[in-house]
Amino acid sequence: MIVYLDGDFLPLDEARISPMDRGFLMADGIYEVTSVLDGKLIDFAAHLNRLGRSLAALDIAPMHDFDAWLAIHRKLIERNGVTEGGAYLQITRGAGPGRDFLWPDPAETRPTVYLFAFQKALVDTALARRGARIRTVPDLRWKRRDIKTVQLLYSSQAKSLAIAEGFDDVWMTEDGAVTEGSSSNVHLVLGGRLVTRPLSTDILHGITRAALLRYAAETGIAIEERPFSVEEVKAADEAFATSATSFVQPVVEIDETAIGTGIPGPITQRLREIYIDESR
Ligand code: PDD
Repeated sequence: MIVYLDGDFLPLDEARISPMDRGFLMADGIYEVTSVLDGKLIDFAAHLNRLGRSLAALDIAPMHDFDAWLAIHRKLIERNGVTEGGAYLQITRGAGPGRDFLWPDPAETRPTVYLFAFQKALVDTALARRGARIRTVPDLRWKRRDIKTVQLLYSSQAKSLAIAEGFDDVWMTEDGAVTEGSSSNVHLVLGGRLVTRPLSTDILHGITRAALLRYAAETGIAIEERPFSVEEVKAADEAFATSATSFVQPVVEIDETAIGTGIPGPITQRLREIYIDESR
């Protein structure tokens, strides 16, 4: 596997990062995951826009322009022969002189830029065919979920515990409404309408979500942006999640209650097909 680290393309086992890197010590960093289909990056410009917003929120100066980022991503995908899967980009504040809560002087710190590409089936997956079984958990993450930080401990713990109990993933709840999946945005189909949680600092502004809402509107599906409760999910006709690594993932059960007919719903499946067709 060839990875990219701070300007160099090199074998993974030659990549070295300082143990003083603030990404390692403090999760002081951000990331992006862009999907790859037929060897091509999907919605790359939107991912880079969000990267810019995440960097700005952490006061890390951008280090490359659009063309440079695109060239790095493309070279990595090509060098690794990735046809279907994704590219992971992570930027941390870099290594400070020691461990300190205070952000180090940017003039004395160089951010760490790390990328790798991975091959993974995205279109034809067993989970997409059968639909996910979800369990709910309280959303105990910090309140700036619009920043795509590498601080993923709660989501990763919650998902791991849910999978150990036979579920596929979690949906998180706060103030009586569902916020997000462990790494996805959440949606319902109710009486032919698509219901989705509105954007705020409570959720990540999903790139897949944004594209899907455009495609759904073009298809004539009405969209209602509002928070929804777990009770509404249980009573919905269909439910699904969106993310760069799952596209449109049908959800067939929540807290052991079947949603709709208990199999992936027709509108969800149609939206998944549209999303994949439009992305190709
Ligand atoms: N996660 N919400 C959260 C908390 C996420 O981590 C993600 C994506 C999304 C969906 O965003 P997008 O459509 O832009 O992928 C929503 C990526 C895939 C990950 O962490 O691997």
